[in-house]
Amino acid sequence: MQLTYLSHSCFYLETGEHRLIIDPFLSANPRAKARPEDIDCDYILLTHGHDDHLGDAIAIARRTGATIISTFEVAMYCGRQGVKVHPMQQGGAWNFPFGRVKLTIAHHGSAHITEDEIVYLGNPAGILITTGGKTLYHAGDTALFLDMKLIGELDRIDVALLPIGDNFTMGPEDAARAVEFLNARLAIPMHYGTFDLIDVDPQRFVERVGADARVMAIGETIEI
Ligand code: NI
Ligand code: MN
Repeated sequence: MQLTYLSHSCFYLETGEHRLIIDPFLSANPRAKARPEDIDCDYILLTHGHDDHLGDAIAIARRTGATIISTFEVAMYCGRQGVKVHPMQQGGAWNFPFGRVKLTIAHHGSAHITEDEIVYLGNPAGILITTGGKTLYHAGDTALFLDMKLIGELDRIDVALLPIGDNFTMGPEDAARAVEFLNARLAIPMHYGTFDLIDVDPQRFVERVGADARVMAIGETIEI
């Protein structure tokens, strides 16, 4: 699969004839170069309902006809806005045409917050995607948790996408510990630098992890 970093926690995956986007926070993201109007995909995967993850998902789904895959609460919330959804829940897996998706636990919040209301959207998730014999783990927003060892035991993780921005999620030191727990072959930092509150130098993460970590530039594509 080809993995492209679009900034914050947003990644674009191409696998065979399928195209996926995870947490498409683009139009309101000061660092994103890609625009939602240019995204072509058949599936949109969402880790939780916060705006910097749900982002432009509805608009992209409406325009492309893509199916949104997320937790039951986030999926139902999106479904009410007239887009195709596939609801799942943490611990469950499903075989899609592009490969297998399993949702994992994540320790964080999940809500859609507008000017006049807060809609709570259940528990946040991490996402495991297995396609072409490779497994990618997108941790979503989360604290460090010991069950990451179990996640790494149940699936051989080729690439782990881990939040390092601190304040709302793991910081670089905890994220480096997560790489050990997960026994991931390659770790890529995300969820940093977008806002002042998460303005963390990713080299702090890379130095702790060593050769198994690399920073992806915004817009960069790697083959997994
Ligand atoms: Ni969040
Ligand atoms: Mn976030």
